[in-house]
Amino acid sequence: MNIEELRGRLEEANQGHLLQYWDQLSDSEKQQLYKELSPRDFNEINGFYKAAMEDLSSASEKLDDLLEPLPKEVCGRAVNTGQETLLQYDIDGLTEIGESRVAVLLLAGGQGTRLGVPYPKGMYNVGLPSGKTLYQIQAERLLKLQRLGESVTGNSCKIPWYIMTSEHTKQSTQDFFQEHKYFGLQEDDVVLFEQNLLPCIGFDGKIILEKPYKMALAPDGNGGLYRALHHSGVLKDMESRGIKYIHVYCVDNILVKMADPVFIGFCISKGANCGAKVVEKAFPTEAVGVVCKVEGKYQVVEYSEITLKTAEKRDSNGRLVFNAGNICNHFFTLDFLKFVSEPSQERQLKHHVAKKKIPHVNDKDFRVTTKPDSPNGIKMEKFVFDVFHFATSFAVWEVIREDEFAPLKNADTADKDTPTTCRRALLNLHHRYLLAAGAEFVDKDGNNIPHIPSQKKAEEKGGGNGQKGEDEALFVESEISPLVSYAGEGLNKLVEGRKFVSPVYLSQDFTMDKPEIVEGEW
Ligand code: UTP
Repeated sequence: MNIEELRGRLEEANQGHLLQYWDQLSDSEKQQLYKELSPRDFNEINGFYKAAMEDLSSASEKLDDLLEPLPKEVCGRAVNTGQETLLQYDIDGLTEIGESRVAVLLLAGGQGTRLGVPYPKGMYNVGLPSGKTLYQIQAERLLKLQRLGESVTGNSCKIPWYIMTSEHTKQSTQDFFQEHKYFGLQEDDVVLFEQNLLPCIGFDGKIILEKPYKMALAPDGNGGLYRALHHSGVLKDMESRGIKYIHVYCVDNILVKMADPVFIGFCISKGANCGAKVVEKAFPTEAVGVVCKVEGKYQVVEYSEITLKTAEKRDSNGRLVFNAGNICNHFFTLDFLKFVSEPSQERQLKHHVAKKKIPHVNDKDFRVTTKPDSPNGIKMEKFVFDVFHFATSFAVWEVIREDEFAPLKNADTADKDTPTTCRRALLNLHHRYLLAAGAEFVDKDGNNIPHIPSQKKAEEKGGGNGQKGEDEALFVESEISPLVSYAGEGLNKLVEGRKFVSPVYLSQDFTMDKPEIVEGEW
């Protein structure tokens, strides 16, 4: 340990206070602190802080005058695309999958503070009949998609799954996959890598100490992806496997269609090097970022960055002009990912500031960590979509929200994006898949159940359709293992013309060769 060299660097960067308890630390605490501080470039961190704070002070300036709607030629909508074209996208996407040219990349380094569980969000079970966690659902979707790709090309194929973790999530994610035998995937095809952590900084520019021998650290945002890619062997691994296209997505969307062949086929048809899947913004004030152009470059603009007047603008069809709601589903070519991950591009991505209550060493007793009541500093985060402005050819594919987007953000005490809303979204979607495949539903006395539940009845029972608190029994519910069907395909042979008592579970995991139908009980 060269403590004097470290002290000198810290003093020079005006962060000398990080060693203020040095003489009172035990040997192992000294080692821990030294190990944490010595590899850091404190001038770089100060630079991040300065730029982020400058950006924050200009954040009240609205972008309205710079905003342009998306050009029509880069956009497509699932709802008004003909069946034949959709089928072509699907086949094109499946062909790429079947040729092992597609990978998925999961952003799973977040701390999930709003959900508030002490383990990674992917390990969460939202209470489905199967009891499956988000990770298991995703793994099974990949297994199924590999089979679908193989059936198109006749080759055996792989979809490698790259999972970005952080210090908070890495070990438990690793252990979880090992414990569950990778849910039937090949261990080699699940590649974990780690994003960087950045110190949390007080409003005075000083790095916060959480313990006398430990800085307060937080992951550097999902846009930390690019720096992590540069420092890990992931891009090389993709290259050596012959990957051309990558689907990047967030861990928390229970409906996520990983490596969605239709989305991939659409982006390829547009010759895009970067693409975004979006849902239509529901109403002008909805707190969702919209994909649009700013000064000629593609960008996601947050609701807070525009005025209400702009948010309310409508086109001649009555649709919002800025309506492409970002759902963190991105398509990148490998060449594009390599380009944006190079330091000269990556450095241009700015850090966004989140003011937070950051636990810190108590002023009176340094052995105690205090959790403040109000924000005392900032976390700095990059956003994954900030690379859109490097895109030379872009594509935006709009899908139906109910079919593809239900994020898990909060605990069940909140009104939206909870385990309950996620569970309901998945059960409703699967129910619709079964209806479309020709299944019918009857109650326990054999009476047919109407396809659309009565809103009035739901309200009498104390809750609206899709809301928390409603009576689960009012709704016909179904779960389909992703190993049975990826997106509703192939169900006819199992369910057409059959009458089912809700709930229905088409069960299968990687240890079973064929599905089993469980009905009438959870
Ligand atoms: P969120 O912004 O919802 O953050 O992340 P979060 O950490 O999951 O939850 P809160 O805000 O603490 O409650 C959106 C996606 O980006 C990933 C998350 O894991 C999630 O998939 N993410 C977020 C990262 O991979 N790294 C980060 O540093 C932050």
